[in-house]
Amino acid sequence: MSDAIDAIEAYLDRTAEERLDQYQAFLRIPSISALSQHAGDVQDAARFLGEAMSAVGLENVEVSPTAGHPVVYGDWLHAQGAPTVLVYGHYDVQPVDPLDLWVRPPFEPRVDDGCIYARGAADDKGQVHLHLWAARAWLETQGRLPVNLRYVFEGEEESGSVNFDRWLEENRHRLAADLAVISDSGFFQGNHPAITIGLRGLMYAQIDVSGPSQDLHSGTYGGLVQNPANALAQILTGLRQPDGRVAVPGFYDEARELSESERAEFARLEFDDTALASDIGVPELFGEPGYGSLERRGARPTLDVNGLWGGFQGEGSKTIIPAHAHAKISCRLVPDMDPARTFRIVRESVLANAPPGVRVEVSLINDGMWSLTEIDHPATRAAAQALEAVFGEAPVYLREGGSIPAAASFGSMLGLPVVLLGFTPPDDHAHSPNEFMRLDNYEGGIRTVARYWESLGFSS
Ligand code: BES
Ligand code: MN
Ligand code: MN
Repeated sequence: MSDAIDAIEAYLDRTAEERLDQYQAFLRIPSISALSQHAGDVQDAARFLGEAMSAVGLENVEVSPTAGHPVVYGDWLHAQGAPTVLVYGHYDVQPVDPLDLWVRPPFEPRVDDGCIYARGAADDKGQVHLHLWAARAWLETQGRLPVNLRYVFEGEEESGSVNFDRWLEENRHRLAADLAVISDSGFFQGNHPAITIGLRGLMYAQIDVSGPSQDLHSGTYGGLVQNPANALAQILTGLRQPDGRVAVPGFYDEARELSESERAEFARLEFDDTALASDIGVPELFGEPGYGSLERRGARPTLDVNGLWGGFQGEGSKTIIPAHAHAKISCRLVPDMDPARTFRIVRESVLANAPPGVRVEVSLINDGMWSLTEIDHPATRAAAQALEAVFGEAPVYLREGGSIPAAASFGSMLGLPVVLLGFTPPDDHAHSPNEFMRLDNYEGGIRTVARYWESLGFSS
């Protein structure tokens, strides 16, 4: 271990309390990007982050507007001759419903048994915050960083990054880099370190079915008109076969089949289906036949209903034919599927499945591209070494099921290799009630990043 790393570790040990206070303050800001009533909070979180970055010693810090929520940018570019790393994360969070399942309110962080609970603790405020402290530890103890850094923290990743590509396009002049590092993914099952080498893409749409101009008495009108809720059920049933395969014609046409060697890589990872089923409370796992669980999650496309509403939902009974019914659906996409084409064929299939007597509309809400990164890149190997040094175990390489649209954009628009270096295991309740981050992972994450920068600097 270098002298610098010694000093950094000591600094981090003595500042843990101050760090936790700041982390909690960040978590108190309800920066839910999807809900317009929280737009001001998203802005507050951006300002908070920008101020924290300036305090660390980052330069050119700017809360940079987009047509939606701002991107927070800052850089430190004084490591002459060393590589430049673009660090990406997001400071927006998912909605918090159902609220009654939270043990404590989602924006009142609580530390319990080595974990910090709050919306965004893991996804992704904790992972953004740990980057600030890795830089701070270097600057405070060494007066320098071993690499050049450009931080790009997005405020609408959880809403599909709809304005992000545009922002990248307009800010190319300050995005020159050698590598992008994204800390917004996870460890492997059982909290083993992992480097993510694949992410799925996404196509998210809403289906609106409407019938009569208002709810009708189901005795007077039942048998006379089509029921929008029944119609929606029929439509949704038509989208998927009972065995879990997607029934949309052409859906799999562009999905790249796994090669034998990719399948062998998946097979090497030990994964306990029964333990997972019991952890998440389902009687058994379910999905497309012919593929293992990790393959289905990381490398096969899906179609899921994310929300479904319409008609009477109160206590007791109310005999009506509802005027309308709605569903939010999404597809996870794998190489080489195109989100726009997927929307087109899903929409056609919905309209083709629609029974007579109702009007059906299908609208795209957002989409994002899948991505694959190279295992064999020197920057990936250096990240693996840093993880091993801190967590005592070499990481596994994972293709994950989640989506980070920015990961694809860094490759396609900026031509950068991407390293997905995340620190939180899959049981962190991201997007669910009682989200948490293990403080060991958070602290280990800071130390991993600090070492990673040193090794990238040396190898230059
Ligand atoms: N951090 C996740 C993505 C992720 C999840 C990566 C699990 C690896 C493993 C990210 O914040 C996320 O939730 N993305 C959305 C994207 C969407 C809104 C475009 C997702 O995957 O649903
Ligand atoms: Mn995230
Ligand atoms: Mn997320």
